[in-house]
Amino acid sequence: MQNFVFHNPTKLVFGKDTVERIGEYLKQNAIKKVLMIYGSGSIKKNGVYEKVVRSLHENGIMKVEVSGIRPNPVLSKVHEAIEVARKEQVDAILAVGGGSVVDSGKTIAAGYYYEGDIWDAFIGKYNIKKALPLFVVLTMSATGTEMNGNAVITNEDTTEKLSFGSKYVYPVVSIVDPTVQYSLPKDQAVYGAIDAISHVMEHYFDITGSDIIDSIDEGIIKTIISSTETIIQEPENYEARANLCLATTLALNGLTRMGTTGGDWSSHDLQHPLSALKPEVAHGAGLAAIFPAWMTYVKENISDKLIKFGRQVLNLGDEITPEYTIAELRRWYTSIGAPISLAQLGFLEEDIEKLTDIASKHAPFGTVKPLNHQDIKRIYEIAYNS
Ligand code: NZQ
Ligand code: ZN
Repeated sequence: MQNFVFHNPTKLVFGKDTVERIGEYLKQNAIKKVLMIYGSGSIKKNGVYEKVVRSLHENGIMKVEVSGIRPNPVLSKVHEAIEVARKEQVDAILAVGGGSVVDSGKTIAAGYYYEGDIWDAFIGKYNIKKALPLFVVLTMSATGTEMNGNAVITNEDTTEKLSFGSKYVYPVVSIVDPTVQYSLPKDQAVYGAIDAISHVMEHYFDITGSDIIDSIDEGIIKTIISSTETIIQEPENYEARANLCLATTLALNGLTRMGTTGGDWSSHDLQHPLSALKPEVAHGAGLAAIFPAWMTYVKENISDKLIKFGRQVLNLGDEITPEYTIAELRRWYTSIGAPISLAQLGFLEEDIEKLTDIASKHAPFGTVKPLNHQDIKRIYEIAYNS
């Protein structure tokens, strides 16, 4: 086990009827005016918007709004919101939505104090030193962004989808009320589950690990698998929904990173070009095609772990091989309605070259096997033909 320091400053407020407490938490933190950001309107249909606005009003919190943050959020929208935040002199950002809205919130919070283009934080030119406080009402559990310091944004000008991590952008308070996720479309719930499973697997298949974290990893993934199967049948099953929500938060809040060197993250690095090139490709959908392809390519390096995963997570019995584990993971993804190939995601064979070029800009990456241009192309080919 590697040495580590664990520090997570986010206050997680979890459970039924917690959305209406957002105003109270803002007031406790001496916030007077927020920039409230959200997506394309799901919060107006499921009642979350109304609850948030009422709570702000009851606690005397002023607000200005920026809406229309789209999935796979873009830099131009972040720029627009930074301008509004500065003009209106808000003293916090309130993100109400899924990962795309929260990641935009983190970037706006950091960009507020930076005179240059906040894209610099994504390309390593600016080390964030300060950010507005961020408060979150999460409406979709998937990314873990409600309890971490990461943000992922697409730059439409360069077709790059990149991330930064900073201790300054952890949410101060994140509210997770599983009941507001009853309205999630089935495909989004499925993609969210696959994203969270992938976050755990990026650590599990890394070169370092420990018995305790492996057991936690296996427990989180098993919980995501069983609760996803339940909510597909019963979207309003509270216990299953709550288990899924908590599991996805724990998947990327630093817990599964403890004692590791930080995870491999190749599958994420290979997925982001998919959504950069085709913004309609949901992050989790892309991962369903990429992760098994990566496993196939590096299977000699992770064969023991694939067998352990097959036994502990997929309950495959004694006759397990690495190939069998990968095939069963794909089979489960298919059974819940996820695409498992680039072709199913709408990519053409000639896109492989473009994807390889985008991903290779940041190559080599990966710890299990450092991937270069040739490796990357091969993995996209496997993912295309799966
Ligand atoms: O636009 P709205 O109205 O918000 O609708 C959204 C959107 O269409 C909808 N939705 C969310 N909550 C809902 C709902 N619909 C009905 N009822 C609800 N309660 O779902 C759609 C997808 O939302 P989005 O926020 O894009 O999904 P997700 O939470 O999966 O976030 C994905 C983004 O996060 C990044 C991804 O790359 C992607 O850009 N990631 C962020 C990470 C992080 N910050 O740590 C790590 C991840 O690996 C990931 O890269
Ligand atoms: Zn992810």
